[in-house]
Amino acid sequence: MSTHRPVLSVIGTGYLGATHAAGLAELGFEVIGLDRDPSRIDSLSRGIVPFHEPGLAEMLQGHVASGRLRFTTEVADVAHAQVHFVCVGTPQGADGSADLSQVIGAVEALVPLLRLDSLVVGKSTVPVGTAAALRSRIEEISAPGVTVELAWNPEFLREGHAVEDTLAPNRIVLGVPGPRAEALLREVYAEAIAAGVPVVVTDLPTAELIKQAANSFLATKISFVNAMAEVCEASGADVTALADALGHDERIGRRFLDSGLGFGGGCLPKDLRALVARAEQLGCGKSVAFLRDVDAINLRRRDRVLAMAQREVGAFDGVRIAVLGASFKPGSDDVRDSPAVDVMNRLRRAGARVTAYDPAAVLTGRAAAPGVRFAANPLVACRKADLVLHLTEWPEFRALDPEEVGQAVRRRVLIDARNALDVDAWTAAGWAVRAPGRHLAAPARAGSLV
Ligand code: UDX
Repeated sequence: MSTHRPVLSVIGTGYLGATHAAGLAELGFEVIGLDRDPSRIDSLSRGIVPFHEPGLAEMLQGHVASGRLRFTTEVADVAHAQVHFVCVGTPQGADGSADLSQVIGAVEALVPLLRLDSLVVGKSTVPVGTAAALRSRIEEISAPGVTVELAWNPEFLREGHAVEDTLAPNRIVLGVPGPRAEALLREVYAEAIAAGVPVVVTDLPTAELIKQAANSFLATKISFVNAMAEVCEASGADVTALADALGHDERIGRRFLDSGLGFGGGCLPKDLRALVARAEQLGCGKSVAFLRDVDAINLRRRDRVLAMAQREVGAFDGVRIAVLGASFKPGSDDVRDSPAVDVMNRLRRAGARVTAYDPAAVLTGRAAAPGVRFAANPLVACRKADLVLHLTEWPEFRALDPEEVGQAVRRRVLIDARNALDVDAWTAAGWAVRAPGRHLAAPARAGSLV
């Protein structure tokens, strides 16, 4: 069977592309990854993953060593593949809309070189309507007599779970122009499909829209619970009990109801804004106007945590603040649109002396938060702190001993901005604990408070 399998290319070897390329090799395909960045290609060719993603380096190394997975900076080297996955970035442009220049550039560089009937598969997240425009462009630039089809196959991988999400996704969406493209993609994903992963076969615009709709829905769910946190704060109610009770209703579900500092990262904020921008272009801006509130509620969480911090310390100038967590979520070293980094930078600008600890986001955190010191462990970060802020809920922070941390700090005051720590344990060790959306009791022994 393997002799008839199509050769695959992956264009753009960032987070999505590198994982997808390694995943396709794991499924038994011959894969060539293309990127214009020579240093990235060099490290991937040596089996080095330039970001934190559990399990990916092992998978990459195995397939680079076997020769099934290769990387190149030359577009001509991928022209013999029959299926080309486009995984380049679609960053947010100045007006909130997606910048499609990398997608268009990749297609324009590749398609004129194709001499075999081929399938180009978009995986990048794009605004609805992009594929239709790309399809016309492909027709214009493809070589005479060569049929190049375009499909859209959005990716739903979560950072920190990218390997499992690639090999065992919760659904496969195939936006296809016809049966040939569908058959080829079903061959690529045969293993997952045989294992029972649901497949949604649809047209190109629907496939494009599904991705932005999914991320906008997740963002809405988080902002819903954070809006409830605001009401809890005003009314004396408790958002964590509220979320647990809502979550017991299967129609609602408990996941993505963790209230706190809100969402960040390379996807949710960007996709939400890009959907609003595209809907406005399409004349249906009103239909998604509520997503602007979703964004605004999310950004208010950062203000809220800063206000809580200020209430604890008075003015920030010269105050020592320890920050636990810098990445936008646990399990990742990604600090793109990280709420934790935003809070740190604003504390610094207000004159605070900030020392942070993150299990992974040290290099990325240093680059994104200049002036913040990064410590080698949480206890060092907390040394002589007037206030401890828990901003990213890494599991190891839940394992901290409140008494041991208490010995390190100057004042036992903690803001659990992620509502993830064992408040009773911290309170019992004499900490004053504050948390957004909650009204917490005073510590059992407040002696160590100034
Ligand atoms: C997201 C989607 O989940 C994924 O399907 C898509 O392909 C890419 O975007 P990711 O950005 O990796 O994945 O992170 P995700 O786990 O969705 O978390 C996004 C943000 O929401 C993080 O900042 C996280 O801390 C925050 N979050 C999540 C909450 O604030 N509360 C929650 O209950 C859940």
